[in-house]
Amino acid sequence: MIDLSNSAVIVTGASSGIGDATARRLARDGASVALAARREERLHDLKDAIEADGGTAIVVPTDVTDRAQVQALADATQEAFGSIDVLINNAGIMPLSFMKNLHEDEWERMVDVNIKGVLYAIGAVLPVMQEQGYGHVVNVSSVAGRRVFPGGAVYCGTKHFVTALSEGMRAELSPDHDIRVTSIEPGAVATELTHTITDEEIMQMFESRHGEMTPLQSEDIAASIHYAVTAPEHVNVEELLILPSDQRSA
Ligand SMILES: NC(=O)c1ccc[n+]([C@@H]2O[C@H](COP(=O)([O-])OP(=O)(O)OC[C@H]3O[C@@H](n4cnc5c(N)ncnc54)[C@H](OP(=O)(O)O)[C@@H]3O)[C@@H](O)[C@H]2O)c1
Repeated sequence: MIDLSNSAVIVTGASSGIGDATARRLARDGASVALAARREERLHDLKDAIEADGGTAIVVPTDVTDRAQVQALADATQEAFGSIDVLINNAGIMPLSFMKNLHEDEWERMVDVNIKGVLYAIGAVLPVMQEQGYGHVVNVSSVAGRRVFPGGAVYCGTKHFVTALSEGMRAELSPDHDIRVTSIEPGAVATELTHTITDEEIMQMFESRHGEMTPLQSEDIAASIHYAVTAPEHVNVEELLILPSDQRSA
């Protein structure tokens, strides 16, 4: 099992939900965490909580759709901690909508955050990991990266991209560069992710299904990520699909 006590970990989307819980979980095991997202105040609250628990964290306000800001995040992490051992590539948005309702701005935004943002982070950390001769990239995809559902055509498309990207990255980077790659694919998790939905038909659909299942908690996904990043060096956990026990479909 890998000891996280000397590891530098970047967590994008650390200001809420899965990112927040993962930063706390890894910091508890001794990882030094770089907290990235746009809501700076939340990141500072998280840093305070991690430090109060004896951990180490820095705050790097970052919009992942801006490549220069993502590069600055990697630079700040290396400067503060001397390495970049793990990237938790987690920032994402999910403004679900039906295609017929033509939420084109939201389609574009999902491409910017869920696809381009993910690539920018990989591009910023890979040179460092190659130079080190090791590293671990955890891309947070979704069950939507495996299954497609009405109202999720574009979101599922972005998450299928992340799943495919992760598979290709692992095949290239794990055997020859000792850089492990994991795709995390959660089902429904109780977070703020649905707050970006503006399509009223989707909102009504969600309301009518309320209480149908018990969603996962962010800590459940943090535990899965913890399992993948602490697995022994010879183990590359390529993919984890985690669903609430009573979730019927995507
Ligand atoms: N919740 C679920 O059911 C579920 C299921 C499967 C997969 N996922 C995936 O899990 C990941 C985390 O989502 P979550 O459920 O934890 O939702 P969340 O609580 O809404 O967290 C999303 C995070 O992404 C950040 N973010 C959004 N746009 C950003 C940008 N332009 N630049 C930097 N950060 C940005 C947000 O921070 P700021 O707004 O402060 O920037 C926030 O910290 C996402 O990739 C999501 O697709 C979630």
